[in-house]
Amino acid sequence: MVEFTLPKNSKVKKGRTYEAKAGAKKVKKFSIYRWDPEKGENPRMDTYEVDLASCGPMVLDALIKIKSETDSTLTFRRSCREGICGSCSMNIDGTNTLACTKAIDDVCGDVKITPLPHMQVVKDLVPDLKGFYAQLESVEPWLKADPLPAGSKERLQSPEERAKLDGLYECILCACCSTACPSYWWNGDKFLGPAVLLQAYRWIADSRDEATAERLEALEDPFKLYRCHTIMNCAKTCPKGLNPAKAIAEIKKQVAERHA
Ligand code: SF4
Ligand code: SF4
Ligand code: FES
Repeated sequence: MVEFTLPKNSKVKKGRTYEAKAGAKKVKKFSIYRWDPEKGENPRMDTYEVDLASCGPMVLDALIKIKSETDSTLTFRRSCREGICGSCSMNIDGTNTLACTKAIDDVCGDVKITPLPHMQVVKDLVPDLKGFYAQLESVEPWLKADPLPAGSKERLQSPEERAKLDGLYECILCACCSTACPSYWWNGDKFLGPAVLLQAYRWIADSRDEATAERLEALEDPFKLYRCHTIMNCAKTCPKGLNPAKAIAEIKKQVAERHA
């Protein structure tokens, strides 16, 4: 029978508040999604008061400070702290972005932090990206070309050919775009989503790759590619300023040209 209400354990409850230490000079509240699969409890929003006078400027600095000084059970991914590894993606103040490049001062009022939307949660702010990575693997994101002739050492590209990779190679696979895409929310098991399609196009656009026809053929599918309805949430949210919707449009164009 169709279930019209949320399952009992999906309702997010109010959690506890961790007050700032006495003498804190510049307090800001961080309201953070918490869920531990081992506890069998509903998710909750815990509130942490952080003294910004002794905290770095980015949201990730506050998360690290909370984990080090207040609550070591808070769980999140991070690595580079430079906007390069893509691991600290989460929803901050209603937008999918990187915690390490989002300035605390850019958020008016309390800072609300939840995991990337519409994904299963592993724990707290950690989404399950297994399906996302399986989709990435499915587009074979590596150079496919015959071995170089004996004596050749490099696959040369002209500056113009290299320029075609601009706006593509910078993708750090943070999944902010895919998890902001309504089509991916509804059909994430079959639609590849903006991040993976941008990666697919990165190899289609590479003059050194020799599998273009094979790649386009593999993408010509009503779900894998054509669930993109150009809603543009992907481009709006990408923390690297990329435009996956444009890459998707290029793939659609090249698929259509094969049939012209
Ligand atoms: S443009 Fe396409 S991929 Fe980007 S958010 Fe919209 S539907 Fe999703
Ligand atoms: S296109 Fe942007 S938002 Fe999407 S995965 Fe790449 S870097 Fe992240
Ligand atoms: S920690 Fe690497 S992108 Fe944020």
